[in-house]
Amino acid sequence: MAPAVPVPARRLRLAPSLLSADFSALGDAVTAAEAGGADAFHLDVMDGHFVPNITFGPALVAAVRARTRLPLDIHLMIEEPLRYLEPFHRAGGDTLVFHLEARSDPEEVVRAARRLGAGVGAAIRPDTPFERLAPLADRVDQLLVMSVQPGFSGQPFRAEVLPKIRAARARLDALGSTADVSVDGGIGPKTAVEAAAAGATFFVCGNSVFQGGGVAENLARLRASVTEGARRAVH
Ligand code: DX5
Ligand code: ZN
Repeated sequence: MAPAVPVPARRLRLAPSLLSADFSALGDAVTAAEAGGADAFHLDVMDGHFVPNITFGPALVAAVRARTRLPLDIHLMIEEPLRYLEPFHRAGGDTLVFHLEARSDPEEVVRAARRLGAGVGAAIRPDTPFERLAPLADRVDQLLVMSVQPGFSGQPFRAEVLPKIRAARARLDALGSTADVSVDGGIGPKTAVEAAAAGATFFVCGNSVFQGGGVAENLARLRASVTEGARRAVH
């Protein structure tokens, strides 16, 4: 029997979305998730224009920054990401993720984020084709494929985005890039397997971490799922 060809293991990261945590005890939620094995935190910024909901601004990011050393992933669901890169980076955001459907010019956003020394990610809504994202693949740290309509946590995962996750992974692999394919929305123990098998490496998890059960147990279950999914992806 031919020896198995070693496949380099991809780094798989779990990023709890604080939108699903108890805002009255946010610091405790951060501490519990970090102790429970989170790899990063995902902070959902909404402006009431790009999406129908409003969440928080840089002050809250700074408060979270003071509670953890893990990377902070700032998901900018706002019309003018270009205007707000600097305040969110200064507040402690490590990776600034913007939407291609927003009003700012994507190339300009990437350049401005790089000038700040920030990580940068580009995101698409479920109804936006991968072709919009593809031209940025060689310039970003993260391609984010949304698996729910942005605006609210707790929505069901849309399996129809799986081909876009596969396409994003294939594009990054063709480039020899170590950038992440990130998936956001409806990720739980079952859907995490599917997303990982399709090639996602960065998993945003809101309700499946903070709504029901212990945070550490929830993260352990999700870790097992993404590991299983990634194993399926390479065999
Ligand atoms: C939705 C946000 C997501 C959301 C994820 O607009 O971008 O990050 O909080 O929450 P769950 O995992 O519960 O779908
Ligand atoms: Zn998000």
